Amino acid sequence: MEIQAARHFFSQLKGDQTDRLDEIAKEIDRTGTYTLTTDELTEGAKLAWRNSNRCIGRLFWQTLTVRDARGAETFDDVFEALIDHLRYATNGGKIRSTMTVLPNDFRLLNTQLIRYAAYETEDGIIGDPLSLTMTRQAERLGWSGARTAFDVLPLLITDGREVQLYELPDDAVLEVEIRHEAYDLFDGRTVKWHAVPAIADMELEIGGLCFTSVPFNGWYMETEIGARNLADTDRYDLLPLVGTSLGLDTSKERTLWRDRALVELNVAVLQSFERAGVTIVDHHTAAKQFKRFEKNEQDAGREVTGQWGWLIPPMSPAATHVFHRHYNDEIVTPNLFARSGCPFSAFQAKSKEESKG
Ligand code: ARG
Repeated sequence: MEIQAARHFFSQLKGDQTDRLDEIAKEIDRTGTYTLTTDELTEGAKLAWRNSNRCIGRLFWQTLTVRDARGAETFDDVFEALIDHLRYATNGGKIRSTMTVLPNDFRLLNTQLIRYAAYETEDGIIGDPLSLTMTRQAERLGWSGARTAFDVLPLLITDGREVQLYELPDDAVLEVEIRHEAYDLFDGRTVKWHAVPAIADMELEIGGLCFTSVPFNGWYMETEIGARNLADTDRYDLLPLVGTSLGLDTSKERTLWRDRALVELNVAVLQSFERAGVTIVDHHTAAKQFKRFEKNEQDAGREVTGQWGWLIPPMSPAATHVFHRHYNDEIVTPNLFARSGCPFSAFQAKSKEESKG
């Protein structure tokens, strides 16, 4: 561990950080690494959100609540922190953007804190096909679901030696039944989605330190559910059902029945979350909020980095400004990375090379 990465981070914090950096230099000499205070961790996590190139919700980066659970020692401690996270973030429907930082000794095998299971049956897959592998893994550990299309998976926590399975209590998982005000879209079937999208498989890099277990959540944009989770052919694949339920001519593409079904499905998602008092944003409003973020960043003298293909909404993208401009997909730290993607070791290697030359 070298001091450069810490310098890079502390230079982004307010105030004079020279004393703190001296202290850190000594700590690195003595122990090979250093420890962030809870405040520094919180600030770093906010910057990581601000730098998340795929996220259209970044206007709210300063509102993130960070829960410092680095002191968790046992599997039960970790599970308790996760349940607390879900309750705090759900907040009866008024969703709060939240991150829990766990010690690196533990890891979640789940990709999100809340996911629906999937079962292979003679009549095809029941549930969310995305979760086939995770469901099998949970079953091998002795779990068995009710075999509905919306069974919440248990949490699989590992310390690198063993995996322990924890069932989420019902009152920690708020769900919303999807119902359109005007049409029966699902031919009487129950379709629902959970209120909190909580990513569990990304790593956080701050000042050369990598935090490998940092589940975090925001609130949903309706297209994530209505145009992807419930609509993708390799997910719930509901467009054909919605199309026929709406009485559309699904025999040929040129009636645009898929597009019309998509719109009503997304309307239903927005109406249902609103009815249930659960925070959700539509993609037009989200794009406008992102435009304000772009303005704020420009005013602060920072370039907005972004990944265009992720920022554009999957419905009517060209109806938002995001579609019509370019974003630089450079990775700025602090940031969040795919599992095992923390580049801090690369950063060290790079700075070594630099110091060689
Ligand atoms: N798209 C993912 C899902 O549907 C969630 C990704 C994060 N989304 C968010 N609004 N923070 O579950």
